[in-house]
Amino acid sequence: MEGEEVCGIVAYVGPRRGAELTTLLVGGLSRVEYRGYDSAGVAWTGDGSHPIMVVKCQGKIADLEEGLEGIENRLSGAAIGHTRWATHGDPNETNAHPHRSCRRHVAVVHNGIIENEDLIRRALRDRGHVLQSETDSELLAHLIGEFLNGDPLEAVRTALETVQGDFALAVIFRDYPDRVIFARRESPLCIGVGDGEYWVASDPASFMEHTRKIIDIGEDQLGVISASADPVIVDFGNVPVTAKIEEIDWDIEEAEKDGYEHFMLKEICRQPASLTDSMRGRLLPEGGVHLGGLLDHRDVLQDMQYCVLPAAGTSLFASMVGEILIEEIVGVPAVARNAAELANRQHLVFPRNTVFWAASQSGGTADTLSAIRRAQALGHRVFGLCNVVGSPVSRETDGGVHLHAGPEIGVASTKAFTSQVLLFQLICLYIRRLRGQEDLPWMGRYLEEMRRIPKLAAGVVAQSDLIRSLAERFYQGYPSFYFLGRGILYPVAMEGALKLKEISYLHAEGYPMAEMKHGPIALIDERFPTVVLVPQGDDHYEKIVANIREIKARKGIVIAVASQGDDRIAEIVDEVIYVPRVTYYLLPILYVIPLQLFAYHMAVLRGCNVDQPRNLAKSVTVS
Ligand code: AGP
Repeated sequence: MEGEEVCGIVAYVGPRRGAELTTLLVGGLSRVEYRGYDSAGVAWTGDGSHPIMVVKCQGKIADLEEGLEGIENRLSGAAIGHTRWATHGDPNETNAHPHRSCRRHVAVVHNGIIENEDLIRRALRDRGHVLQSETDSELLAHLIGEFLNGDPLEAVRTALETVQGDFALAVIFRDYPDRVIFARRESPLCIGVGDGEYWVASDPASFMEHTRKIIDIGEDQLGVISASADPVIVDFGNVPVTAKIEEIDWDIEEAEKDGYEHFMLKEICRQPASLTDSMRGRLLPEGGVHLGGLLDHRDVLQDMQYCVLPAAGTSLFASMVGEILIEEIVGVPAVARNAAELANRQHLVFPRNTVFWAASQSGGTADTLSAIRRAQALGHRVFGLCNVVGSPVSRETDGGVHLHAGPEIGVASTKAFTSQVLLFQLICLYIRRLRGQEDLPWMGRYLEEMRRIPKLAAGVVAQSDLIRSLAERFYQGYPSFYFLGRGILYPVAMEGALKLKEISYLHAEGYPMAEMKHGPIALIDERFPTVVLVPQGDDHYEKIVANIREIKARKGIVIAVASQGDDRIAEIVDEVIYVPRVTYYLLPILYVIPLQLFAYHMAVLRGCNVDQPRNLAKSVTVS
């Protein structure tokens, strides 16, 4: 299964051939390198007198160029290229795209997730197909090859009718070297319109240097580009769609960020999509949970009596939420631990059936890896919650779940946090079912809200401009901030403080709300604002209001993140950002977004380098 949007598709048909076509394809793939990838490949038909040729590799575009050395002049006919960011199936040459059908008469590059891949894979094998890779994308090549009967567009349409899930794909055929067939459901795809030549690409950045004329391919549409005719687009009922040519009016740099000013803002605002991807195929319609990476460990999970969650930075704060989720949903004691502190302990002793859960966006954090190795040396099972397939954490843990959040380019982690918190919930529900624990009365509403969490998150993201105006009040003259939360929102307060610190370079500290009167409140004055997370409807509300009054009594400025409809809080604090009401366990996903946006806008207003903050690296691979 290939992750949504994260892979790069480039296809071309026109007069260019040889080295010029090689440069065009490789250049087009290079333009989407920023998305993150771990393998790449190209395929071409030639004049149709031989099977489709493919060159692909694990690694970078430079490795692909090395593979093409000396054969550039062979490239001709219809051509496709792909950069893959693995979400299922290791990053290696076999799993790299393009994938070919058995007889190599069809080649496919694909983005998306085929949800009924197991069924299709079994059926193809029963019909004698020899499958080379672990990917679902390869199945499309075999399926289309089966349905090919004189009309390549019809073959693609018929094949896709048997597919559940979403896709963006480009297909070439040995017997039709003058055309590329494309299809789109959810994953983005567009057509570049040249003079007697056409492109299909997942990102217009791949052809913008050649043409700024673009046709957007709509939802559930497919069609043909060929050098000898205008593009043809139809819907899945074969009803023609009018192709509207538009002019691209943004530059390459903006195209890479999809029009957002920074990758970090794109990643914050795309959390509805990344949360959807993290849930896809895992939260089942009837309320069950499917987590393939835990299937082989059900015995250990049934016996699990204690959990340790080693992590660092933002992943540690997500793990602190995980700790509460495990204790309250599964009913097993759990503790989130700073990975370095745990790894450096002289004597580590845990109960026999302790299970470790290591959250890491990059999968490359040395401290977390050290903790994983210490735990495994003690004979404990370790599972990962990792965003990068094939990373050290992903490889060294005994199993686990990938975030499927797509590459996180901004150094400050945002969408990984919300995806980790969501996946801890799915893991807890999975284990609960495994252990035969009965559904609790509130489970129905909880699951219904979980399904809606991407939409609810979109509503919070939509307040970005409001939060920017809040930042405009505080980005100068306030050198320090407190972030306070209770219960499951205490880790979110810690995360909000980290976000502000690491990208705006302002001092910020997160505390459990109740801790203020044990010392920290001594610092409060009119130049020391406090951000307070105050959801209505749980036991802590009145205590939080009392804490807020203590701060106000000392001339402290209070910015609240509160529940929609809570008018009372607006009378007590100086500023308020409202978020939707949800079940307690889902609060961290919604309450962190205003804090991400506040830190982002403060940093931009302060002229900081938001995507690459000073002194920081995206993955801390040294201890
Ligand atoms: C978060 O914004 C920071 N960039 C940093 O704290 C990060 O979360 C930490 O280094 C852990 O990284 P990981 O999730 O890749 O293991």
